[in-house]
Amino acid sequence: MKKRILTGDRPTGKLHLGHLVGSLQNRVNLQDEYEQFVMIADVQALTDNFTEPQKVRENVREVALDYLAVGIDPDKTTILIQSLIPEIAELTVYYLNLVTLERVLRNPTVKDEIKQKGFGKQIPAGFAVYPVSQAADITFCKANLVPVGEDQVPMIEQTREIVRKFNSLYGEVLVEPEALVGKIKRLPGTDGGAKMSKSLGNCIYLSDPADEVTKKVMSMYTDPKRVHPTDPGTVEGNPVFVYHDAFNPDKIEVEDFKKRYREGKVGDVEIKKRLAEVLNELLEPMRQRRAKYESNLDEIDRILRHGTDKAREVAAETMGEVRKAMKIDYFV
Ligand code: TRP
Repeated sequence: MKKRILTGDRPTGKLHLGHLVGSLQNRVNLQDEYEQFVMIADVQALTDNFTEPQKVRENVREVALDYLAVGIDPDKTTILIQSLIPEIAELTVYYLNLVTLERVLRNPTVKDEIKQKGFGKQIPAGFAVYPVSQAADITFCKANLVPVGEDQVPMIEQTREIVRKFNSLYGEVLVEPEALVGKIKRLPGTDGGAKMSKSLGNCIYLSDPADEVTKKVMSMYTDPKRVHPTDPGTVEGNPVFVYHDAFNPDKIEVEDFKKRYREGKVGDVEIKKRLAEVLNELLEPMRQRRAKYESNLDEIDRILRHGTDKAREVAAETMGEVRKAMKIDYFV
């Protein structure tokens, strides 16, 4: 039997290059070797967007389209909608007994987000406990591996704790998952900020047309201390070079750019022009797949429906074992 992957995204916006290097590339590469489940986490998206259900709804199809565009193959990967798997909500209720409030609030990802969103002391309870619901996401199919961006690693750690606690109390039912982080740990924003983030407006989206990508690259932040192309420049931490390292398959060219940049023998424009080309070559096949599905939205619905049905069968199996282990399997 193949090992399983589960991962997912909140449908709050279009996916970008950060998602690609963090997790999407791993999903595409591993979908043959693993039985893969990819979840559109609408329940989780609602924990901090409950006043905007229409936004979440619209982004479910947007994210599905991004998945299909990058090459997640619906014949190999099960794509599902979280809210349509009620077993996840059930598992969440039982797992909530196995964690303390203190522990969820100590989760570094949750802490960061609470700060970012400015909740102060008014933290919505559903938001505070979303790591527990994420543990249910991961365990409903007994996933072994979870490809995610670096920021999600504390979520997997918390899931492992819940699994260990469950298994020690009720018997070995659940599987302890491992996180798999992409090769590039964190992709900076086009503004040089620490990470690409929709709210910061520093993203290159997988769905950006070629001229938009070029425009964004040409106005990217580089080495602020460098005024003329003949000034020696800094490569380390320079987002243009981080992107070249992440996306340019021609490593010899990248090394040559770096050398000339350090020596003040190449202008930003040349390096950026080449980066724009590299990115557009990478994105072009995605644009073509996207166009195919965009003209056939019924097909996306069919894929989501089919994936969700399959995931429900798997969830029902796990739920049966959980009920038995917890002695709430009354009438079987
Ligand atoms: N928390 C993830 C994010 O914000 C999305 C997510 C929901 C997820 N459920 C998951 C990721 C399960 C991995 C596994 O991007």
